Amino acid sequence: MSHQIAVIPGDGIGQEVTPAAVDVLNALDVDFEFREGEAGDHVAEETGEPLPEETVELARESDATLFGAAGERAADIILPLRGVVGSYANVRPAKAYPGLEAVKPDTDIVFIRENTQGVYAQIESQLTDDVATLTRVVTREASRKIAEYGFEYAEEHGYDNVTIAHKANVMQKTDGLFLEAAEAVAEERGADYDTELMDALAMKLVMYPEDYDVIITPNLAGDVLSDLAAGLVGGLGLLPSANVGDDNALFEPVHGSAPDIAGQGIANPSAMILSAAMLLDHLDYDAEAARVTDAVETVLDEGPHTPDLGGDASTEEFTAAVIDRL
Ligand code: NAI
Ligand code: MG
Repeated sequence: MSHQIAVIPGDGIGQEVTPAAVDVLNALDVDFEFREGEAGDHVAEETGEPLPEETVELARESDATLFGAAGERAADIILPLRGVVGSYANVRPAKAYPGLEAVKPDTDIVFIRENTQGVYAQIESQLTDDVATLTRVVTREASRKIAEYGFEYAEEHGYDNVTIAHKANVMQKTDGLFLEAAEAVAEERGADYDTELMDALAMKLVMYPEDYDVIITPNLAGDVLSDLAAGLVGGLGLLPSANVGDDNALFEPVHGSAPDIAGQGIANPSAMILSAAMLLDHLDYDAEAARVTDAVETVLDEGPHTPDLGGDASTEEFTAAVIDRL
């Protein structure tokens, strides 16, 4: 089946790593039609608007979107785009690749983070000059949905351990509901799971990351814990992510536009290429996803490496090596 893929390179190194990922996808036997959309600071400079309506439409109509990186106006681009694809799950794998310096070499954790509610529902009030409040929203439907996605992901990807992170001892109503809904999903599926208080989990992730596989979390906890885990595997140029909705999804590296190295052709395209592998996986090209992931892993292990990993390869040289390994 043919799929239409929106490609939005954005700013800075987004312009360099996105074509690298498209080259890798083009080297596979997949039926993708790529359509490029504009967004970014460079667009805002001309029109005042960083995310043109045509780009929003393109993402909406496409089967999936590949997004590179944005600069100063990132929040005005990526948050609406995540909304356009209706993403309720933010999938963030943190994996320590062989051959690289990692703080914890046995780390292989996938965070399945609720992507729509919790304290990020943006319901805040300034009551007086000196008092502000925040409303935390948790629904059974959204909690079940993220739990179902998490258990399904673990099963499909062969991960044994599923952990539900929460703080239901303090946030009894909201995280109580999240935990209850997630546990109900586990029981219906007959799936094994553990639960962890999110603060204790932060400590355990640092000390024993090898004990964890898939972690299902509320929104804020997932944001913080996944960044913490990124620190365990050593490198922003390596971390992909997926924003998954019912009928649509957006794939993007965790990093930004990296203005300090933009335009030099030396950005590490691994995070972007691994994001493309997640796109393949999402569209049920499982074998191709594995081929791309294996190829990136092999090149990370054997070289050549881009400067962020101590090498002197260009983005193009690294990408060519990945394509060679496919
Ligand atoms: P950044 O991720 O762009 O860069 C942080 C550091 O990591 C820099 O030293 C950069 O050179 C390095 N780095 C990042 N990705 C790399 C790669 N693929 N290869 C080699 N080195 C890499 O974050 P920073 O500097 O905080 O933000 C720069 C701009 O990016 C800002 O304008 C920010 O708003 C935007 N941003 C956009 C995001 C998005 O589009 N989702 C996410 C984070 C930041
Ligand atoms: Mg974050």
